Amino acid sequence: MSRVKNICCIGAGYVGGPTMAVIAAKCPHIKVTIVDLNEARIAAWNNENLDNLPVYEPGLADVVAQARGRNLFFSTEVDKAIDEAEMIFISVNTPTKTYGLGKGKAADLKYIELCARQIAAVAKTDKIVVEKSTLPVRTAEAVRSILDNTGNGVKFQILSNPEFLAEGTAVEDLLSPDRVLIGGETTEGGKEAMEALAEVYANWIPKERILTTNVWSSELSKLTANAFLAQRVSSINAISELCERTEADVNEVARAIGMDSRIGPKFLKASVGFGGSCFQKDILNLVYIAKSYGLDEVADYWEQVCIMNDHQKRRFAANIVKTLYNTVSGKKIAFLGWAFKKDTNDTRESAAIYVADDLLFEQANIAVFDPKVEEPQVYSDLNYLNTRSKEENAKGVSVYNDPYAALEGAHAIAVLTEWDEFKEYDWQRIYDNMKKPAFVFDGRNLLDGDKLKEIGFVFQAIGK
Ligand code: UDX
Ligand code: ADP
Repeated sequence: MSRVKNICCIGAGYVGGPTMAVIAAKCPHIKVTIVDLNEARIAAWNNENLDNLPVYEPGLADVVAQARGRNLFFSTEVDKAIDEAEMIFISVNTPTKTYGLGKGKAADLKYIELCARQIAAVAKTDKIVVEKSTLPVRTAEAVRSILDNTGNGVKFQILSNPEFLAEGTAVEDLLSPDRVLIGGETTEGGKEAMEALAEVYANWIPKERILTTNVWSSELSKLTANAFLAQRVSSINAISELCERTEADVNEVARAIGMDSRIGPKFLKASVGFGGSCFQKDILNLVYIAKSYGLDEVADYWEQVCIMNDHQKRRFAANIVKTLYNTVSGKKIAFLGWAFKKDTNDTRESAAIYVADDLLFEQANIAVFDPKVEEPQVYSDLNYLNTRSKEENAKGVSVYNDPYAALEGAHAIAVLTEWDEFKEYDWQRIYDNMKKPAFVFDGRNLLDGDKLKEIGFVFQAIGK
């Protein structure tokens, strides 16, 4: 018999939405309610048209269709869902702090704290509280302190259950994860709570892939996994710059080293820089934590991964300016892609934002096309940087629904996201409608450079 019959998840975002949809699909005997303060987001999750879900992920619509209304519910009634659930997942966002102590590095835990206070205020029965957001090490302690000191005398068990799903492959990653990590206290109550959560996952995941650790190991493992992955990208990106100065080709180098089974082939794709909501945030967190323990060398070591990443984005933009005869003022530069990677509509920390920012300083006119990102998102990303006025961003950037319109009359194309469809475009037609010489700067090593050169493009790719 399953111990948990009623799950509540606070936060209906990129993590909470797909994760709970898969749990609900795989555990028809468990009622799963996802709550969010954002009414528009909940309405979108409840939208009959599954093409309009707030999160785009391949396969997600099918999973939602399977469970929604049966045992998967989306609601804004946070208190009610907390009250009814035996297990509560916290999947709210933990952005990097933009103010005060730890500004630009530490995680902003205000949303987590609000959740903890709300759970404490509402709970009338014992609950298992699961941290699902990426949290800095020792957050569980803060959550515990709030729950124990402000609650109604009920017992809370706090688990850390970091998510390792990558956007764009979230459903696949959730259906067959390499491992599921559950951190908990080593007390009887802690062990029981870990077992209860392991039981939920065991409905579709082999037991040997479900690992249990202490809370701190679990929290730190998440940061470490992302730091290692990001480090691989920064490492190959560092080599890409060297390749550009020599006769080496970064793709060939990556293939050659990737065949060494000790290194392995994944995460060796040189790019304009990594983005996404996790890598930079988690590394900065690691850096902040190391610094707070006085471990300066440890902090500097990891910080370099982000420094390399910022450099990669800046030098991509600088190279465009240099190649276009040292001026892009008034020139139309078309962006293919705005999302931080393919198969997602998420744009958080996307390299495209920073490349656009640099080119706007050079007075370029930027024309953006992304298959899944809408116009308001592009402006909101740029405005969030706060480097110029909204009006200036609106003037310098236009967003298109049709790629050919975005590319028409452009001096140069910058490929910022590796969407598969870009490869299938009619590149002859694009060439014919561009200013000459027509430049392509491939920030993702996506396109067939030889073919484009044959058409007449001046083609440059990262690390070549
Ligand atoms: C990452 C982790 O992979 C996931 O386990 C964690 O839970 C959340 O953070 P995500 O941010 O969704 O997932 O995307 P990921 O596939 O890791 O890519 C991150 C960034 O690195 C993207 O911008 C991607 O384009 C870039 N990248 C990745 C490269 O530039 N080269 C590579 O070889 C791999
Ligand atoms: P992630 O990528 O971590 O899932 P998102 O920003 O996509 O991050 O999702 C987090 C969600 O959590 C948002 O939809 C936000 O409205 C929601 N949220 C934040 N704080 C609360 C809260 N106290 N109660 C309910 N929902 C919350």
